[in-house]
Amino acid sequence: MKLDPREYAKRRAQLMQLMSPNSIAIVPSAPPTIRNRDVEHPFRQDSDFYYLSGFAEEHAVLVLIPGREHGEYVLFCQEKIKEQEIWTGRRVGPEAAPQVLGCDDAFPISDIDDILPGLIEGKDRVYASLGVSPNFDHQLMQWVNHIKTQVRNGATPPREFSALDHLLHEIRLIKSAAEIKVMQKAADISAEAHTRVMAMVKPGMYEYELEAELLRTFMAAGSRWPAYPSIVGAGDNACILHYTQNTAQIRDGDLILIDAGCELDYYASDITRTFPANGKFSGPQRKLYQLVLDANYAAIAAVKPGVDWNAPHEAAVKVLVAGLVEYGLLSGEVDELIDSQAYKPFYMHKTGHWLGMDVHDVGEYRIDGEWRLLEEGMVMTIEPGLYIAPDDLTVDEQWRGIGIRIEDDVVVTRDGCKVLTTAVVKDVDDIEALIQG
Ligand code: GLY
Ligand code: MN
Ligand code: MN
Repeated sequence: MKLDPREYAKRRAQLMQLMSPNSIAIVPSAPPTIRNRDVEHPFRQDSDFYYLSGFAEEHAVLVLIPGREHGEYVLFCQEKIKEQEIWTGRRVGPEAAPQVLGCDDAFPISDIDDILPGLIEGKDRVYASLGVSPNFDHQLMQWVNHIKTQVRNGATPPREFSALDHLLHEIRLIKSAAEIKVMQKAADISAEAHTRVMAMVKPGMYEYELEAELLRTFMAAGSRWPAYPSIVGAGDNACILHYTQNTAQIRDGDLILIDAGCELDYYASDITRTFPANGKFSGPQRKLYQLVLDANYAAIAAVKPGVDWNAPHEAAVKVLVAGLVEYGLLSGEVDELIDSQAYKPFYMHKTGHWLGMDVHDVGEYRIDGEWRLLEEGMVMTIEPGLYIAPDDLTVDEQWRGIGIRIEDDVVVTRDGCKVLTTAVVKDVDDIEALIQG
């Protein structure tokens, strides 16, 4: 538990406020996943579960029952069994859980089938995230079916199942001051990693050597893993949006696109920088780079409370399309090219996404069919790009194979926004100076 325990208590209280009367919410921990044969992927707690509990163990279920006389927060977790702890690590255990985690009641996870149906019984509504884990969905139906077998004894099964996501994710979408502090730290670590890579890059190196430096910097600063697989794409690999092979040798004259961010204490950062391997943008590279940079600045300038989610994207597209026309990659009227989405072959993704515990964080983008309005405390990325396919015969040869993205993390403030990722340079002269040492 890295944040103040009161932060987690506040979140649970907020969620329970939004739940309907006489209801129960059930949130399982993340399921372990197999990498190969008997090797598991490193365990990473489910973000919803961790958001409400600060509890990182597997094989646990969190239950919230607003108004329950014997306590509203019930936790099922692994028992402390010495022989098992020797193999798989220390556990909190149900005896210590109330004191350590602030729950009102804790039971061994092995007893859940006996206890949980009794907690669900008589409730009108069950909140859960259905359709995520087939195992959990099946378990939940078994608990409910168990209650149904008891109806002749007076038991009442729940009548309604509701998506927990909707309520919980609206809370997660607005970040507290404490969360923004962690996110700033994560962004600083990632900015340092990008800076180090630019300072060390040389033609002839391999993409994975740069990835190694990113990971080393993340971990040395206390981040246990990246928030997503790092993208290190040299040359036209930069045109593959989710390129993660990272095995190519870097050539003189290549641009390198790096999209990498650490996860710190369950919060993601997400930074992209694009830079010349030899420290000098070529003419065409510089032109397109400056265009994407102008779009990045224009989109950031559009971020403030009260504007709709899509406004930064629209600002970026406007700059990009005007530039593409100026350089002859598109021809026609800017407004018409925007309306017809003629830019899509060169800019096929949106300008950002919510950022938080998940790199593509939770929260609706539209409400009642309309783009939602930005509010203070929302955190998002701004990441315009241009990707000119190496085999695109519709454009002049000089542009082919250039891939550029410039991505920053931005928090909406009371009167505008704050960029969390300013510690790594993005202006042309600054990048060239950094690489040339
Ligand atoms: N790294 C994934 C993204 O930028 O959305
Ligand atoms: Mn992103
Ligand atoms: Mn990214």
